[in-house]
Amino acid sequence: MRPVASSHPHRVELHGLSRALQAGVRDPAPAAFGRLRLASDERRPEAGQIRSRERVRDLGEVYTHQREVDAMLGLVAGMFPSAADPGNIGRTFLEPACGSGNFLEEILRRKLAFVTAQRYGCGERYEHRILRCLSSIYGIDISADNVAESRNRLRALVNAHLDGDLESAPASAGFVSAAEVVLETNIVQADALADVSTIELVEYQSRPGATFIREWSFVDADQRTPELFSPAPRRDKAPVHYSLLSAYPDPVTAPNAQGSAA
Ligand SMILES: C[S@@+](CC[C@H](N)C(=O)[O-])C[C@H]1O[C@@H](n2cnc3c(N)ncnc32)[C@H](O)[C@@H]1O
Repeated sequence: MRPVASSHPHRVELHGLSRALQAGVRDPAPAAFGRLRLASDERRPEAGQIRSRERVRDLGEVYTHQREVDAMLGLVAGMFPSAADPGNIGRTFLEPACGSGNFLEEILRRKLAFVTAQRYGCGERYEHRILRCLSSIYGIDISADNVAESRNRLRALVNAHLDGDLESAPASAGFVSAAEVVLETNIVQADALADVSTIELVEYQSRPGATFIREWSFVDADQRTPELFSPAPRRDKAPVHYSLLSAYPDPVTAPNAQGSAA
């Protein structure tokens, strides 16, 4: 696993797929969704680097230790917010073999550290910032249980952040539904080698008023030769307030009365 500069100016891709990984192994069970709020002891059923010999053999599954995760993310410190640049929360990360989410969780933790209620209040501005952190992190794994665990860990981390920051104040229902949508679009089960031209991810471009413009594109879009009649990427024609993301899963064509989506 190593961070690699990508052709996208603000994106780091974490390449973890070695030749030893065997493509074509797929877990048929769909990723299950839980509620946004999870008890902390539900977070990690097991936290070792290896689950079973069979999984090492079939999936090349050896999780990266936290020590190496920290060291590697330290190499790209400029991709994270800092005291000097607390607004640097939207840099994009793609982990094409994300496993149970060791890198994803630490990336989110480093982003969220600079999104506090003290800095942004505890309303829509704060929630939108948390969603900007979450929505700029992408993970792919061939195993359904790894995808489910990665989503659970990110969800639990958001919960812990909210608990620490908001004390007893609940997050809004619109935030909760948006976070679920983002986890679904950004952490996906797929074969990152064989399916690379069919894996579609959603880019959430932040806009004023706690909104996003979404653009759907294929993971290998950078490598594709443009064709004369290739369709334009699917994209929102108007900004969508985060609380409406779940109500509008497809591109919106015009603003509605609230100036958000329709
Ligand atoms: C060495 S582990 C690394 C996990 C994680 N990146 C980490 O550092 O902890 C490799 C992961 O790749 C996944 N994998 C294997 N083949 C894959 C493929 N063709 N596409 C996507 N994921 C794959 C396995 O399920 C496993 O979780």
